Amino acid sequence: MKCVDVITGGAGFIGANLASRLVREGRSVVILDNLSAGRLEFLGAVGSAERVQFMRVDMAERDQVLDAFAEILSVQAVGDVWHLCANSNIQAGTADPDIDLRNTFLSTYNLLIAMRKFELPTLHFASTSAVYGDHGEQMIAETAATRPISNYGAMKLASEAQISAAAEAFLRRADIYRFPNVVGTPATHGVIVDFIAKLTQTPRRLDVLGDGTQRKCYLHVNDLIDAMVHIGSRSLTGVTIINIGPNDSGVTVRSIAETVRDLISPDAELIFGEGNKGWAGDVPRFHYSLEKLTALGFQSTRGSREAVQQAAREIAVQMGVL
Ligand SMILES: NC(=O)c1ccc[n+]([C@@H]2O[C@H](COP(=O)([O-])OP(=O)(O)OC[C@H]3O[C@@H](n4cnc5c(N)ncnc54)[C@H](O)[C@@H]3O)[C@@H](O)[C@H]2O)c1
Repeated sequence: MKCVDVITGGAGFIGANLASRLVREGRSVVILDNLSAGRLEFLGAVGSAERVQFMRVDMAERDQVLDAFAEILSVQAVGDVWHLCANSNIQAGTADPDIDLRNTFLSTYNLLIAMRKFELPTLHFASTSAVYGDHGEQMIAETAATRPISNYGAMKLASEAQISAAAEAFLRRADIYRFPNVVGTPATHGVIVDFIAKLTQTPRRLDVLGDGTQRKCYLHVNDLIDAMVHIGSRSLTGVTIINIGPNDSGVTVRSIAETVRDLISPDAELIFGEGNKGWAGDVPRFHYSLEKLTALGFQSTRGSREAVQQAAREIAVQMGVL
């Protein structure tokens, strides 16, 4: 019987890249997505149509999730489940917490109900550095206190907790990947997209949220997918929480603004806001410990600066600006 991997949120930025990689490795994937942020056109690049199936499903609706898995399992077996669907717009979730409750937490909860019902043992979860909150300059290991300062981070942490309980009850394996900021194409959101869009509207000025001193780690999506697939191939059991990131302490928002300005509109003036937060819930800086990732045999090939430079060019091409 054919065996497929399921990717929730697979029509989004990271999900479409993951789908491409799995298909390139000879696996078949079923993508569950409600297309709220993802796009069917992103799946055009995934390749081999007979290895990719798309189902439009709202993961926040339990009946839709159960029906989707029943349909998938009626004709094939399911191997790994990669849970990437979530609200990826942190500011939208601050304005309306229901968005994170539904798309981030309920989607996880409903997925776990389905995995228990259909006895699916292996889950890979896209979590985030936002679960840690603001630890200042401290190096953050996976054991650090989790004090999210956004609804987005809170609902990711609640999802992690629900997954941990499910691992005690019925999951054989649950990998929880805590991503940093991820950049590349097909971009759906993020600081580079925002800067390019602003410069397209007003080529002579670029307004930056906050004073530009926020410093964060950026990982190119190709490195992220390498890391996920690498960890996924290791024989792990139980719950494994892993920080994934570049091996540096990040770049400032000022430097990202300069990179994008130099690429798109070199004469533009940078206008900074006030305070070291871009918006409520923004963590001004974080610095990951990657000891666990390194012990699992993975190191990213690009640093934060290189990731931002490469992604800026790629996103500018995607947006038709270069
Ligand atoms: N991009 C980053 O910098 C970053 C950083 C940390 C964590 N993550 C996590 O990685 C995952 C993928 O993020 P992304 O950047 O590709 O974002 P994205 O918005 O491009 O992808 C998320 C996908 O989930 C889908 N989705 C949302 N709600 C849904 C629902 N109720 N039912 C079905 N589908 C739904 C969207 O349509 C979209 O295709 C998310 O879980 C995100 O929280 C991303």
